[in-house]
Amino acid sequence: MEGVIDAATRHLLTRSPGFDWTVTEFIRVVDARLPPRVFHRHCPELIGEGVTTPSGVPVHLQLLGSEPEALAANARQALHLGATSLDLNFGCPAKTVNRHDGGASLLRDPRRVERVVAAVASAVGDNIPVTAKIRLGFADRRLALTCARAVERGGASQLVVHARTRQEGYRPPAHWEWIGRIRQRLRIPVVANGDIWTLEDYWKARTLSGCRDVMLGRGALADPWLARRIRHWQLTGERLPMTPWSARAEILVAFAAEQHSTLPPRAVTSLIKQWLNHMRYRDTEAARRFATLKRCNSLDDLLRGLQAPTVEALPAANHADTHSTLDEALT
Ligand SMILES: Cc1cc2nc3c(=O)[nH]c(=O)nc-3n(C[C@H](O)[C@H](O)[C@H](O)COP(=O)(O)O)c2cc1C
Repeated sequence: MEGVIDAATRHLLTRSPGFDWTVTEFIRVVDARLPPRVFHRHCPELIGEGVTTPSGVPVHLQLLGSEPEALAANARQALHLGATSLDLNFGCPAKTVNRHDGGASLLRDPRRVERVVAAVASAVGDNIPVTAKIRLGFADRRLALTCARAVERGGASQLVVHARTRQEGYRPPAHWEWIGRIRQRLRIPVVANGDIWTLEDYWKARTLSGCRDVMLGRGALADPWLARRIRHWQLTGERLPMTPWSARAEILVAFAAEQHSTLPPRAVTSLIKQWLNHMRYRDTEAARRFATLKRCNSLDDLLRGLQAPTVEALPAANHADTHSTLDEALT
């Protein structure tokens, strides 16, 4: 997820079981073959053994663009750099991306979807799989099935369907039953995506779509134990208890430690608040902490605030960025 799920987040989320694979943020392809540093920035996992998170979960490299030749050139570059799977984005609703003819805007013309997938698939041949992600359409769902078929005809080995149109943005509900209609007509595996926040949502999405697999988006940030919760239920039929605040605080503090090695404290502070913001919609304690800490500009105070036993115990916000407590918190 662009601006949210970077290598540090992938690493922390996949420390607990449940994820079968993850995807990088998208590499935007316009017309040129991009240099290796762009690929390495988006996917540091390319450096080293295998393209996996430290816990061994495969990382798929995501490309976004509309020019088949340029995408093919970058697919070859990715292959050369060691990518083990490529994912094509036909779902991004961002105005700037769509204005430049990328992401969901291609869903208005399924022939272009097919040309893009076919160009990338033939560029990498049988060396690595190419997968794709679509929404149900741009303004409406009329072309949903045609676009899905275009992905399959182009040579993709798997399709993720985010069960909303571009017009619907991120507004609930996600139309999981539409994924089922697509799944029934495709031979390649279809993965259901959209609005899976809880174990119950997972169960409903699976039931309505008939898909064996689901892709988690915001739900995995809101509840870092969601994948683990689903896997645990699959294996045992038991429900895990609510994710305790201590586990949420632990992952946020670990995230700060990871980001702090490359980013200045101010940037780390914003990233932590961004993640806490995702958590607050699904957890009252996260909501309380967010309300208290949202104006805190000191990483040090923010980390203290996350780790305080109760919101009432939070120290008065001190906006100077002192590093002694930060270092203590991070070691
Ligand atoms: C901030 C943000 C960034 C996203 N970036 C991407 C992206 O780079 N590629 C992609 O295929 N989908 C992206 N998505 C869409 C999600 O992967 C997912 O399809 C969507 O949020 C629906 O799933 P959810 O309701 O479980 O979040 C993004 C969504 C958000 C909110």
